[in-house]
Amino acid sequence: MEKKWWKESVVYQIYPRSFMDSNGDGIGDIKGITSKLDYLKELGIDVIWLSPVYQSPNDDNGYDISDYQNIMDEFGTMEDMDELLAEMHARNMKLMMDLVVNHSSDEHKWFVESRKSKDNPYRDYYIWRPGKDGEEPNNWTSFFSGSAWQYDEEIEEYFLHLFSKKQPDLNWENPTLRKEIYDMMTWWLDKGIDGFRMDVINLISKAEGLPSAPGGEKYDWGGEFFMNGPRVHEYLQEMNREVLSKYDMMTVGECPGASTKDAAKYANEEGTELNMIFTFEHMDLDSGPGGKWDVKPWKLADLKAVMTKWQKDLEGKGWNSLYLNNHDQPRMVSRLGNDQDYRVESAKMLATFLHMLQGTPYIYQGEELGMTNVQFESIEEYNDIEIQNMYREKVIEGNEDHQKVMEAIYVKGRDNARTPIQWDDSENAGFTTGTPWLKVNQNYKEINAKYALEDKESVFYYYQKLIKLRKELDIIVYGTYDLILEEEENIYAYTRTLADEKLLVMCNFTAVETKFNLPEHIPFTSSELLINNYDVQNCSDISSIKLRPYESRAYLLK
Ligand code: NOJ
Repeated sequence: MEKKWWKESVVYQIYPRSFMDSNGDGIGDIKGITSKLDYLKELGIDVIWLSPVYQSPNDDNGYDISDYQNIMDEFGTMEDMDELLAEMHARNMKLMMDLVVNHSSDEHKWFVESRKSKDNPYRDYYIWRPGKDGEEPNNWTSFFSGSAWQYDEEIEEYFLHLFSKKQPDLNWENPTLRKEIYDMMTWWLDKGIDGFRMDVINLISKAEGLPSAPGGEKYDWGGEFFMNGPRVHEYLQEMNREVLSKYDMMTVGECPGASTKDAAKYANEEGTELNMIFTFEHMDLDSGPGGKWDVKPWKLADLKAVMTKWQKDLEGKGWNSLYLNNHDQPRMVSRLGNDQDYRVESAKMLATFLHMLQGTPYIYQGEELGMTNVQFESIEEYNDIEIQNMYREKVIEGNEDHQKVMEAIYVKGRDNARTPIQWDDSENAGFTTGTPWLKVNQNYKEINAKYALEDKESVFYYYQKLIKLRKELDIIVYGTYDLILEEEENIYAYTRTLADEKLLVMCNFTAVETKFNLPEHIPFTSSELLINNYDVQNCSDISSIKLRPYESRAYLLK
């Protein structure tokens, strides 16, 4: 397997709105990020993935872009951006920008032109269709509830929006549009950025004829007709030839609904498309047949099966990304760990579990502090368009039970991850001197960066150690993965192998003390404890270990 810097890196994701506010308007900004680079350097990360900072009317908090080559006023200026990049490079950190090109904002000049008339040169930059018998062109639902089509009174046609109606889908079939996108990417890369995280990039090719979903419902999930569509690999290979291959850069594609077979193409080792993708399979383990908001308990056996499938199916063929939360997902310690009695232990355990797998690990801001989910009392306190649309559809229009829907929001809502970063125990957690755009989680008096930096046993320093180990031991990056103790109900254990070394990782995913019994087929003569989240007295006998609640250990065996 080829060695690459982006395989050896650890990425830190910044959601700029919630990271650090430098000017007291209650909204995080670029200068705020620059002011915290030393904190990130201390943590040891290599790359920052910056969620969108481009001009945007913020229907979906920056994922609706109205100008790809200008900065959102609330976040600062292009000079601030240049300064951030220079300060990052001075600290040896790389910058990966978010690239949102499945759709733009309806306020982008392309769309403003496109909706002017049927013969406008930008008309074909978007997906317009006449209605069918006075109804939408097909029955697809949007990711954000309701129909994926919006009728335009002037033009008397519908346009497609897989997300909000202010996020019209771009028409990738149009080569002029593709060229404009490649030119824009080149412009950013020539500025010196080091990569792109590509938003829902596997949705850019829609099936010919845009067929209705077969379910027969008025509105139905049409994913099979727009996820991993017929021309997606052709487009990505073209993008690779025209842009990506010309730079020493990093790419990760967000790919809902991609199988490992798809991933082996998107993230192929030959490098003709992307470096890696984000899968969602492990994020769907707590969703019932009704989808995301139909919450069900997740099972460790399912987590083992999904992670093992991705580790083994991509082995030698493609590269994995590793993540347990981001700006769209709840906080991992609340979802997969225990944010009550074992918050610190379980945060460290989950970090061990993830960082020791094969792939490039992503840390989402605040994860290194063990930040938790939040529960706001009223629906008005939530900001997220996905939450608001779903609530309107289910409760206001659909008469579903308010409390039941709120419970689902508490578990799955995206605002869980978007509350401001808790820097210290002062008002608003030190995030802003103004009124924060989204309420701060009230546990900031106990959980914050100031306390974490003062406490050598904090989650922060645990991440620092994990990152350091990755720099020291090739096996953590390149070793091959094997699941052990598959049937064990409480423990997730695996090995990594590189030449004659083995890494042994054991994680108790429960609050119940559970015995780890080393399988006999693992030979070794010496064992070294690399990292652990509890005090360990006698660590040399590893044949049988009582793992305390959420205890995890990683050993190097020789
Ligand atoms: C995925 C992004 O991560 C999410 O935040 C956004 O709402 C959708 N794509 C649409 O851009």
